[in-house]
Amino acid sequence: MDQTHEDTATFESGGMSKAHLEAKLLAAVTAGVPQDGTPAYFDWVSELYSLMPDHLARGKFLEKLISENLDWMGLDQNNGSVKVLDYGAGTGFLSQAFVPYVSKILAIDNSGGMVDQFNKNAAGTKYSQPGCEMRAVQGDLIDRYNQHQAIDAEIADPAGDFQSFDLVVMCLAIDCFVTDAPNDVQYTELVNALDILAGRLKHDGLLIIVDIEKFYGDSDAASEAFSDGRKETGSGSKEVIAALNEIGMEDIAVIENQEFKVQMELFARQKATYEQYFMVRARKGEEGDD
Ligand SMILES: C[S@@+](CC[C@H](N)C(=O)[O-])C[C@H]1O[C@@H](n2cnc3c(N)ncnc32)[C@H](O)[C@@H]1O
Repeated sequence: MDQTHEDTATFESGGMSKAHLEAKLLAAVTAGVPQDGTPAYFDWVSELYSLMPDHLARGKFLEKLISENLDWMGLDQNNGSVKVLDYGAGTGFLSQAFVPYVSKILAIDNSGGMVDQFNKNAAGTKYSQPGCEMRAVQGDLIDRYNQHQAIDAEIADPAGDFQSFDLVVMCLAIDCFVTDAPNDVQYTELVNALDILAGRLKHDGLLIIVDIEKFYGDSDAASEAFSDGRKETGSGSKEVIAALNEIGMEDIAVIENQEFKVQMELFARQKATYEQYFMVRARKGEEGDD
């Protein structure tokens, strides 16, 4: 079902003053912090990430998206024990949307700064939602930057807690770990990455991917794509679905056209964010690898 979530983000709700955020952003530009998807960028932005009003508004959008589609996901809330892996979890917006419905969330992110913030937020959630245990660990199962970052022993342990998940979820991380290579190379990277994540699911486990949709129309209409809330490059729902079919996932379905709009004032200008999201679901077959 199409859905539009519209918000006006205020700094009062963000817990950080506008002056503080503007000063931080200016300082980053002056210091030459790369404004890209590298761990260096996410380490720098981690302190601001879950305080920024537009991100908080996206958090609310995700809460709504998840709460309204529990049946579609086939998430058995009566089960009482659902173990989730949130990959590329950041400060935990998608995790927080799942908290009311699951019992344990383990998160992985390759930015140490993001992991620290996730765990700070999780400490707060422990009191408001004691039924769900959650924590994050730094690691990189996909190794986009070939840093060969040592994988935490806990993540690597084949008999440990970071295996056999009921649910693996991921939001807005694909474009960080797929390179800027030509489309066919990007697609191969996507297939490999999704295969690695599916490897962490138990038989019959569920994979949920939420991301910004791609514009599949005429490439000459680039400006149209821009105003349309979709991205022009990278992986959208079609690539994700094709990759999931390729790795043998079953029961694949997509919810499209989830519009997120938010406005806030920054540097004396209105900053409008308009994004169109999709959510893909897939189940690991009984015959799949465990
Ligand atoms: C755009 S943020 C999204 C964070 C969060 N999922 C959310 O929806 O707010 C992307 C996150 O993915 C993480 N990330 C990027 N590449 C990664 C990789 N190869 N392994 C683990 N985490 C990664 C980044 O550090 C960052 O926290």
